[in-house]
Amino acid sequence: MSDMKTIVLNKFAKVFGDCEGAKVYFAPGRVNLIGEHTDYNGGHVFPCALTIGTYAVARKREDNKLRFFSMNFEQLGVIESSLDDLKPYKEADWTNYPKGVIWAFGEKGMKVPQGMDILLNGNIPNGSGLSSSASVEVLTGYILKDLFGFEVSNQKLALIGQFSENKFNGVNCGIMDQFAIAMGKADNAIFLDTANLEFTYAPIKLEGAKIVISCSNKKRGLGDSKYNERRKECEDALASLQTVVDIKSLGELDEETFEKHAAVIGDEVKIRRARHAVYENQRTVKAVAALNANDVTLFGELMNASHDSLRDDYEVTGIELDTLVDEARKVPGVIGSRMTGAGFGGCTVSLVKDEAIDSFIAQVGENYEKKIGYAADFYVVSVGDGPCIL
Ligand code: GLA
Repeated sequence: MSDMKTIVLNKFAKVFGDCEGAKVYFAPGRVNLIGEHTDYNGGHVFPCALTIGTYAVARKREDNKLRFFSMNFEQLGVIESSLDDLKPYKEADWTNYPKGVIWAFGEKGMKVPQGMDILLNGNIPNGSGLSSSASVEVLTGYILKDLFGFEVSNQKLALIGQFSENKFNGVNCGIMDQFAIAMGKADNAIFLDTANLEFTYAPIKLEGAKIVISCSNKKRGLGDSKYNERRKECEDALASLQTVVDIKSLGELDEETFEKHAAVIGDEVKIRRARHAVYENQRTVKAVAALNANDVTLFGELMNASHDSLRDDYEVTGIELDTLVDEARKVPGVIGSRMTGAGFGGCTVSLVKDEAIDSFIAQVGENYEKKIGYAADFYVVSVGDGPCIL
């Protein structure tokens, strides 16, 4: 941790002249253990913050300039913008995320009064489904709160992050990623009901096992994926169901009630999308109960069922994620394995017994590369806290 502090401060001094008045911040990435594509359907999710994430060095300026530098995109150099030029339009570089949050603060009545120099350095793989973008959003909000003294809770930071992603970056994401990052707690996952934002922390007690992330290295951007299309399909299915049942979201349905009324949706594809949303929500509730009862085996089985539903009914996996999961399940000592995040590329999450981790990485890595033609990366991760000042 302190090593990283020195690295980013030194780089900041190099890029921006000196590091006088600069402070160092961190926000985690997240992994979702179960409850996928439920957060915009009024369902439950079960993510946790990671100890890997995004580091930032930031300080106020006396003018209105915003100067950004990312150690992950060094080739782009310093990207300059201004507080007077924060428009919710689409452009290609990463500064859209911090700019979106600065813009969103203004929209929420907290106009940022001065410019800033901001350097970022992330150790979450970009575009991998571990929420590098939500990490940058929450981190930016946390910096603004600290530098300018805005009274805003971490939960509010999550909502502002989501608002900026929806309205500034044009991705209709739910609240899971920003919430998991802003509200993270070491060694705990967050059981969140996205219908009302009620949540509880659940200790991750995986005696003798660890969380292993396998990164497919197939890049995806939420914007150009079919994310918004899936969301629309669920909304259409809900509208049809609302003609026969009194519900506000798919998350209010249990499996039986859904099956009774599914035909009213009238479209085979939309029925499958809604089926995933309903069953996945119920699975998430069952999975958390299993974990609380120390039944890690059942938790793993529910993770597997989650992936299968995302593959067959929701169709957001693809050959890379399916290969990682298929290969993982062949390794003795794997408790459960599924894709995590939006899908279409990115990462899988597996629970692996300690003694099987080395063979997991070797075997899944080798067979993945043979089949897909390029290598996957593996991370044995720990569950960490939310944003902080270093
Ligand atoms: C992305 C979105 C989240 C959530 C997941 C799928 O990570 O940002 O809001 O919808 O996909 O569960």
